[in-house]
Amino acid sequence: MRDFDGTHPDSSEASDLLRSGLRRSLTADTAARLRTVAKRPVFHSVANEEQIKLEPALTGRSDYFSIKGVLQERLLKEIGERNLLGVAEQEVAGAIQEFAARILESENVPLNEAERRRLAEDLTEEIMGVGPLAPLMADPAITDILVNGPDHVYIERFGRLERTTIRFRDADHVVRVIERIAAQVGRRIDATSPMADLRLLDGSRVNATLPAVTIDGPTISIRRFGRKRLRRDQLLELGMMSAEMISFLGIAVVARTNILISGGTGAGKSTLLGALAEVIPEGERIVTIEDTAELVLDQEHLVRMETRPANIEGRGRIAARDLVINTLRMRPDRIIVGEVRGAEALDMLQAMNTGHDGSLTTIHANSPRDAISRLETMVLMAGMELPARAIREQIVSAIQILVHVRRCEDGVRRIETISEMTGMEGTTPLLQDIFSFRRRGRQGRRLRGEFTATGIVPKLVADLRDRAIDVPLELFQKRASDVGV
Ligand SMILES: Nc1ncnc2c1ncn2[C@@H]1O[C@H](COP(=O)(O)OP(=O)(O)O)[C@@H](O)[C@H]1O
Ligand SMILES: [Mg+2]
Repeated sequence: MRDFDGTHPDSSEASDLLRSGLRRSLTADTAARLRTVAKRPVFHSVANEEQIKLEPALTGRSDYFSIKGVLQERLLKEIGERNLLGVAEQEVAGAIQEFAARILESENVPLNEAERRRLAEDLTEEIMGVGPLAPLMADPAITDILVNGPDHVYIERFGRLERTTIRFRDADHVVRVIERIAAQVGRRIDATSPMADLRLLDGSRVNATLPAVTIDGPTISIRRFGRKRLRRDQLLELGMMSAEMISFLGIAVVARTNILISGGTGAGKSTLLGALAEVIPEGERIVTIEDTAELVLDQEHLVRMETRPANIEGRGRIAARDLVINTLRMRPDRIIVGEVRGAEALDMLQAMNTGHDGSLTTIHANSPRDAISRLETMVLMAGMELPARAIREQIVSAIQILVHVRRCEDGVRRIETISEMTGMEGTTPLLQDIFSFRRRGRQGRRLRGEFTATGIVPKLVADLRDRAIDVPLELFQKRASDVGV
């Protein structure tokens, strides 16, 4: 960080003076550079990698939200490249406004006049809605922002906690920012309900507390949500799976197979869910259900739902289960439950078994088998007194494919197995692996090994063929090098 040296900023008057002088000059400099950035043409800059990625998004789709998404990403990236820590709130706002003005002038934005005006307001609001934290929001390297008090603002960058020189005017100022964040997502936080889980418009998760639960004043804890979600091809590049695996999963999604993704916390379940959802054909009606909305999908026909905790009187709770039930009356083509955690498992399985196929969800579990048994426990939470066998039958007939992901010891997130649920033997659900990651030791820190097909052709291939969906059988062939190993 530029002007934080690890000591308390008020430690000595002399160094304070020095620092404020330094800061003023850096601020002016940064603001000037920002203005240059804002003036740069948005769509006609030198062709570079970024440009190639941006072009299709802008020209291929002409709806307001995808354009805004692309521009916001670009804006944040550009102002993020300049280290804005310590730059005054107003300066950042000014730069954003200039950037937006530049966009308004551009003939190439396929938006009408009203949409352009709204775009400018939205871009400013979404970034400035967090007040003095705006410069931090603009730094993509920052993963967490922690406000312990008006002049105690910490960030986590590159895995390390650092204190910043960002200051709120006073505790009231912090409270006002909290209220603004809450209002944006239609929540309330006050003395009677002094703790809230909130969300920023970019998807970051926020927890806010007010006194007296936090004795020394209001706090804000922001867990940044990666603005850029990892896409299919990026996951492939990162070595999460093989090309055959992602092709197979893609075919399965398009063919409306029900898929359950399991894994530990941070294993990449939600990311993979988002990547699989990429291939859902445009024109299908998608409803997503999450505790804190984090899924970012490309499709236009999308309804996003979020659960709600009870208020202080213990009323008003809207559980995932309520949302799943409601969704059934919304004529969904696809129901995506971000993560099943409880009783909604029953309604979800029932939906899958009554024609709402093509559903995707994730579950916290240590293995595919563990996923099945956890699902069973969750169904029991619905309080329906179903015999274990009946529950298992529901699970087996609802879910066709299980994908287990793991964050391996070398830090790489990999799909460990893709298995097919093929039926029951007695009371035991039968799973057969179609693909797996086979370890072959390690090279330095990095695990060695490869993704391989087991050679088994999934049963569902025959069903798909009956429906005239062709699945290339080569996908399931063990590679020559694997044979006999
Ligand atoms: N294949 C991958 N390679 C690198 N990072 C990944 C990969 N998949 C996910 N991530 C990152 O890991 C973090 C946790 O991923 P997430 O999908 O939220 O995990 P989960 O839903 O299992 O808790 C996110 O920051 C995400 O961007
Ligand atoms: Mg998740």
